Amino acid sequence: MKDKQIEKLIKEEEKRQKSVVNLIASENIVSDDVLKALGSKLTNKYAEGYPGRRYYGGNQVVDKVENLAIARALKLFKLKPTEWHVNVQPLSGSPANFALYTALVPVGGKIMGMKLSSGGHLTHGYPGSMTGKLWKPVQFELDKNTEVIDYDAIKKLAVEEKPNIIVAGFTAYPRVVDFKKFREIADACGALLHVDMSHFAGLVAGLAYPSPFPYADSVMTTTHKSLRGPRHAILFVKKDEREFDKKLDKTIIPGLFGGPHENTIAAAAVAFLEASKPEFKKYAKQVVKNARVLAKELQKLGWHIISGGTDSHLILMDTWMDGKGVPGKIASDKLEKAGIIVNMNTIPGDPRPPMDPSGIRLGTCAETTRGKKESDMVKLAVRMDKILRGK
Ligand SMILES: Cc1ncc(COP(=O)(O)O)c(C=O)c1O
Repeated sequence: MKDKQIEKLIKEEEKRQKSVVNLIASENIVSDDVLKALGSKLTNKYAEGYPGRRYYGGNQVVDKVENLAIARALKLFKLKPTEWHVNVQPLSGSPANFALYTALVPVGGKIMGMKLSSGGHLTHGYPGSMTGKLWKPVQFELDKNTEVIDYDAIKKLAVEEKPNIIVAGFTAYPRVVDFKKFREIADACGALLHVDMSHFAGLVAGLAYPSPFPYADSVMTTTHKSLRGPRHAILFVKKDEREFDKKLDKTIIPGLFGGPHENTIAAAAVAFLEASKPEFKKYAKQVVKNARVLAKELQKLGWHIISGGTDSHLILMDTWMDGKGVPGKIASDKLEKAGIIVNMNTIPGDPRPPMDPSGIRLGTCAETTRGKKESDMVKLAVRMDKILRGK
């Protein structure tokens, strides 16, 4: 590179990534092919519009790229093009959720989602997010005793509040979500069901987590977490007389975005192909096995694991334990000093504030990509315990 400053920083970051244990639940390590597509000359092309309907000339090749990404996304999740429409242009998860609500929920309508402190995402109606300002948020929490979703309580709230849309799929919830029950709740109050599978999409693709598609009206996923692709997002909507496909496409452009990032779309297409291979199924199953072992071992060492375990890549660990342990921020700092990277996180009903919460969130996607197995997780739990207890 001619730019020595940036070259040096890229090298520094590569070295940092190599030298740490990465337990950030929303990160992964992409293949060289994904990187090649991302860094390709496709980035030079402006392509406002959709394949065959672009505003600029010269889109013969990127049209093929985008069509391939569309076909691979549908195939990966076993969807018929006659039943589902996918838009592969959203730039990331938050703007994708925003686009979906803009397309399907009138401004001032109600978005029902899980509270941030229970594991929901900012874009599920958090009052500080535009999704909680332009629409009226209805927020539900986890059951305080079981620390899992209480479907009866959600149904009661949904029938009372009659939201326009219910969001299922979370950012810090380790358990399987019962999408059938969410469908019944949505039907009981006349709401749409939107599933945000950003975290577990790779596990769905790898058949290690249930698919939301039989029950949802719309599905969003980022492509950079368990799916192991570039930082990007895609949005699926049911194709029927409600014309969600047309509404969504018009919202993406001209409604919200300009030119799509075709280099990133190509990199996502590479990731979809990789995720359709038999090796990826093995990977997804290993991700869950590793998370289960890590959660169990930490629990054996006396730590409070929210909901008692995990069914996914994600573990929510209460490090504070009502004053018997350490707050999440200190836990995260201590682990980082020892070369283990996690993020601090609120726990359900957290008495502490979001910037100094009671817990940390762990995930096994990146370390499983590096080939880690159950025995590594046992050792990791012991190491984490020693660091956190200052032994
Ligand atoms: C469930 C969920 N939805 C949406 C997002 C937002 O994605 P992005 O950071 O790409 O905007 C995240 C990111 O953490 C997430 O976990």
